[in-house]
Amino acid sequence: MSFSFLSHLECSRTGKRHDADEVQGVSDEGAPLLARYDLDEVRASVTPADLRERPHDLWHYHEVLPVRDPVNITTLGEGMTPLLPLPSYGAAVGVPGLLMKDEGLIPTGTFKARGAAVGVSRARELGVRAIAMPTNGNAGAAWSVYAARAGMGSLIVMPVDAPEITRRECVATGAELYLVDGLINHAGALVKHAAAERSGYQEVSTLKEPYRIEGKKTMGYEIAEQLGWQVPDVILYPAGGGVGLIGIHKAMLEMQELGWIGDKLPRLVAVQSSGCPPIVDAFNAGLDESELKEGTHTLAFGINVPKALGDFLVLEAVRESGGTAIAVDDDDILREVSALASQEGTWICPEGAACMVAVRELRESGWIEEQEQVVVLNTGTGLKYPETVPVDVPVLAKDGRVPVR
Ligand SMILES: Cc1ncc(COP(=O)(O)O)c(C=O)c1O
Repeated sequence: MSFSFLSHLECSRTGKRHDADEVQGVSDEGAPLLARYDLDEVRASVTPADLRERPHDLWHYHEVLPVRDPVNITTLGEGMTPLLPLPSYGAAVGVPGLLMKDEGLIPTGTFKARGAAVGVSRARELGVRAIAMPTNGNAGAAWSVYAARAGMGSLIVMPVDAPEITRRECVATGAELYLVDGLINHAGALVKHAAAERSGYQEVSTLKEPYRIEGKKTMGYEIAEQLGWQVPDVILYPAGGGVGLIGIHKAMLEMQELGWIGDKLPRLVAVQSSGCPPIVDAFNAGLDESELKEGTHTLAFGINVPKALGDFLVLEAVRESGGTAIAVDDDDILREVSALASQEGTWICPEGAACMVAVRELRESGWIEEQEQVVVLNTGTGLKYPETVPVDVPVLAKDGRVPVR
């Protein structure tokens, strides 16, 4: 009985097969490679009921993950994050069936841990000694943490404006960290050269290695499992490089083929900031790919990606699922961070809050209907973004008094 039913890698543009048991980057055409599994074998060897008996982490989907030998699994207990009802907030925005998949409760505090756990584990299995990556902060922090756990080196380059805590996470793990006075695409160019010049380093930029998406797709499997193998009507995702959205769509199609879910697909919504909306603009213009945006800015730093390598896959997933793409303003994002904290007691990240703004706006326009079941991905904890909540409180004298109210 195989632990993984990984069969091969497939070019996402041409469908050409590549060997999955060698270290691979992108296809000859420069497109992301997608992992394919022998799903007939998976169907014959495991059922959703079997999963109930397994530990509640993302590795319980190991048949549809790429690691062949469990000794290579590098884990910090990631996966099976809560799918929280938001009764007060949901009622206030007119979507009583609103749920939040809270990725703030995963190691490193963001969903990037999923991609890092699976990506690092598979890299280790294939003999990679060190990883090199550009990042908007959270991914670099997660990959350096998992690399440290696996005994691998890491070279990370991030914009100077990336959340400060993510620098500290990299430094704490012993990563070789550089800051660049620019955006993630500038960091990407630096990493590409560095990885080419060094031996034993694999470049693991977004979608330039095939397995990060496999880690992220487990969010899709978990949502279906947590809903009793049903899918919600709508899933909203804050899209930078878009890996999570592509992964969730891939998970849905795999689960359909496995017979684990029915014919219905959730409508996928790519949420971006109006300060950086390449995918939204391409969606609205009916294009298959986005154009590089200049001078982008947003406080939701994880979605400040001026041009994503997998933009065409995000657009395909959104359209195929009957979804949409929407850009929201930073002021509204900040308002929603506070609303969630005060109404539901959960401090979410700005990227997750962007999705909450989108829920509100799509409900107002009627695109989301009142009775629909809607899942928002809160991709990280607000604790990593202390500056989103300004603190202006009185300081009391030692012999003073708390005001009477
Ligand atoms: C908290 C958070 N949410 C969302 C994203 C966007 O992820 P992706 O680039 O995979 O679309 C990021 C990326 O850095 C992030 O850190």
